[in-house]
Order: sequence, then structure tokens, then C-alpha cells
Amino acid sequence: MFIAPSILTANFNQLGSEIETISKSDYLHLDVMDGHLVPNISFGPHVLSGIKHLTKIPLDTHLMIQNPLDFIDQFVEIGSSIITVHVEANKVQESINRIKASGVKAGITLKPKTKLDEIFPFLDQVDLVLVMSVEPGFGGQKFMEDQLDKVRKLVEIRRAYKYHYLIEIDGGINGQTAKLAKEAGVDIAVVGSYVFNSKDRNATIEALR
Ligand code: DX5
Ligand code: ZN
Repeated sequence: MFIAPSILTANFNQLGSEIETISKSDYLHLDVMDGHLVPNISFGPHVLSGIKHLTKIPLDTHLMIQNPLDFIDQFVEIGSSIITVHVEANKVQESINRIKASGVKAGITLKPKTKLDEIFPFLDQVDLVLVMSVEPGFGGQKFMEDQLDKVRKLVEIRRAYKYHYLIEIDGGINGQTAKLAKEAGVDIAVVGSYVFNSKDRNATIEALR
């Protein structure tokens, strides 16, 4: 299982050295929040504009924003490898089209209360499906185990229809829940507080794999 530490809980005053402490990451997960789609504000493209000079680790950008279409170009510009939009946002299809037209991998994600069939129209076109296992907006929340049913269903659908998306889980991942996620068929686990609050972050990343 690949590990994507979320830099939401990183110390942004020393982002360069923070990124060095998670050099074993497979992806860097960037939690962008606008205070509309989720009740919190994190950071935008300007703050992230230098990150591609700090690391070669692929950037996994999670847009928790109401109008992603307005910002796709800027998140392509900062060097995103993947840009994921919420199915609850506006102009989802246009956003996915724009991401793919820019040569960046497109992801779709859904909040815990959103039914899986809401994302069915996009499954044949996306490179990633991100299953939220917490209510998006904050790190450090408890893992919602019932969301693993969505993961198992997505594994089944991918096999049945020969889709190519990777399955990512996001929220409340630690030593125990990472095992449950892996068993359910998760390909990439986003980990925020469990990595950033640990003594040896790279050792924690390797142990979670
Ligand atoms: C929540 C974010 C998650 C969160 C993960 O809105 O999408 O990526 O930062 O943090 P932990 O691992 O602490 O739940
Ligand atoms: Zn996230």
C-alpha cells in the first residue's frame, strides 16, 4: 500500500525541513480547503507555488473547494501529479475534463454521507477514487470504518468493468486502521496526524506500508 502523508498538520513555517522528515513518502497529500465545501480554510496555490522546488515526491492535491474549475490551472501550475475534486462541488465533469486536458491525473472523492452511486458517472474516466473516512475539514479525527464498504464495492466495480482507477482512503489512518484499509483493497492511504505526531516519521511511513 502506498503512503501519502497529508501536509495539513505540517509546520508551514518550515515546510522545506518538514518535507525532508517524510522523504519516504510515495505521495505528498495537499489538503486545500476553502471554508465553503468544508468548514475550514487551509492553503491555496500561492502558498504552494514553491513546493515543486522543495521535493520530487508526486503531489496528490485534494481540492475540498466549492468551485474547483476556477482553480484547476493554478494547481496544475504548482506541479500536481493528481488533482482530486469532490462530487459535492460545482461543475465536476468540466473540472475533470480540465484536469485531464492538462495532462494531470484526475481523481473524484466523496464525503462519508454521500452515496457511492453519486460518483458512478465518473468511474470510467478517473485515475483515482478517494474515499473519505472522516468528515473532511480537519486532521486528527476518528476513522469511520463503515466507509470501507465503499472501498470493497469500488474494488468489485473496477474488476467487473475493467476500470483503471487507484483507490485512496483519507482520514483517521493509524497502525490499526491501515491494516483494515489494506485488507479492504486500498491502494494509497493518506496519513496526517499519525505520521506528523510520531517520533520517527519515515519509520512510521515504512511501518504503515
Ligand atoms: C481531512 C483531510 C485529510 C486529513 C487526514 O479533511 O482531507 O487528508 O488531513 O488527517 P488525519 O490522518 O490526521 O486524519
Ligand atoms: Zn485529504
